[in-house]
Amino acid sequence: MGRYTTQVGIVGAGPAGLMLSHLLHLKGIHSIVLEARSRGYCEERVRAGVLEHTSVQMLQDAGVGERLTREGLRHEGIELGLNGIRHRIPFVELTGKYVTVYGQQEVVKDLIERRLADGGDVRFECGEVSVEAISTDKPRILVNRDGLNDEIHCEYIAGCDGFHGVCRSAFPDGALAVYERTYPFAWLGILAEAAPSQEELVYMHHPRGFALYSMRSPRVTRLYLQCAPEEDVEKWSDDRVWSELLTRLRCLDGWQPAEGRILQKGVTGMRSFVTEPLQFGRLFLAGDAAHIVPPTGAKGMNLAFADVHYLAEAFGDIYRRTGDARRLMGYSETCLRRIWKAQRFSWWMTSLLHRFEGEPAFDHKRQLAELEYVMTSRAAATSLAENYVGLPLDEA
Ligand code: FAD
Ligand code: DHB
Repeated sequence: MGRYTTQVGIVGAGPAGLMLSHLLHLKGIHSIVLEARSRGYCEERVRAGVLEHTSVQMLQDAGVGERLTREGLRHEGIELGLNGIRHRIPFVELTGKYVTVYGQQEVVKDLIERRLADGGDVRFECGEVSVEAISTDKPRILVNRDGLNDEIHCEYIAGCDGFHGVCRSAFPDGALAVYERTYPFAWLGILAEAAPSQEELVYMHHPRGFALYSMRSPRVTRLYLQCAPEEDVEKWSDDRVWSELLTRLRCLDGWQPAEGRILQKGVTGMRSFVTEPLQFGRLFLAGDAAHIVPPTGAKGMNLAFADVHYLAEAFGDIYRRTGDARRLMGYSETCLRRIWKAQRFSWWMTSLLHRFEGEPAFDHKRQLAELEYVMTSRAAATSLAENYVGLPLDEA
């Protein structure tokens, strides 16, 4: 049995846990990161792809944005499609800001490399984790690996262990309120070896269901199809996937995605979920451990970064000589203001673009009117754009 001590014990080496560990290191605060999966698994997991300008700034300011700056694709707008016609939402013209397309697994690779180069303590395949004594000033993380137990004695614990992690359930009964919404569809996502056939993302409304055209690099396209919530990916041959994508995405001007070998296929569920508060005693939740958004607004990873920005700043105050606890005590409240705005936007983008099977005809007509409004009104397009590029951190 090993006994270790650290200032902040972090559960989970996703974007939230790794970024927090790095930001704390920059402030001279020690952390230990415990990750259930292998390094390879974390680095290959294909998920989000769009970074808000605030997330890019954060990565660059923290000195981990070098490859992102080199390889990230700058996107100055997106296109919304209806009836085979694409309408551009010009972010830079409307907000002065843009987003960057750079895969989540690339961000994770960069953060892991940097943490290890800086001598960070990141323990992959750590074993079974539980957190204890969170309402005392000596919280602990217990790790059971092949019957052997390690004890990590912490001053604080950060639960960055995603939606299915263990930290949220360590809150005492009744301490958390849950706000949740599910959707009657999911996304079938593919990664294809095909050069993008146009530079910007296309969010397409179609009678057969929503489709999204995105990309990862000058050689790799990322595409999504609205599908049933429990869709069996085995029922989607490559031919069927391409046929459905072309049917939904092909435009009247002849544009369509370029086809290529499918490298990866998977189904992503859709939910909106928030727990309040994000903190109890010495345990602080960040990222997907505390909230989930449907992916339509591309907010998941960005929200995770915003949370750990606030958390790192608050720990910075605590460990400065003055030991100011105000920002740590207000962590949950600060994050929730931004979280709810991102929830609203993600719900709105999802409602705007998906096909709701069996909905009243009135709702369908209203949805089409709303899409046309966003496509033709500068005010409505500006509202979409300012949320998509990311609300400023200091206005959370
Ligand atoms: P995670 O990335 O989930 O990281 C949590 C980490 O904790 C994981 O590495 C996990 O292995 C580890 N962990 C879990 N339990 C334990 C435990 N008990 N002990 C130790 N370690 C543990 N967002 C978008 O914006 N666009 C998308 O297209 C998109 N696609 C997605 C597809 C899928 C399948 C999923 C699940 C999410 C997707 N998201 C997307 C959301 C986005 O990826 C997340 O918001 C982001 O990963 C949040 O980062 P995180 O660090 O909070 O959590
Ligand atoms: C991607 C995912 C999203 O959820 C989104 O809204 C835009 C792009 C992507 O994976 O590229």
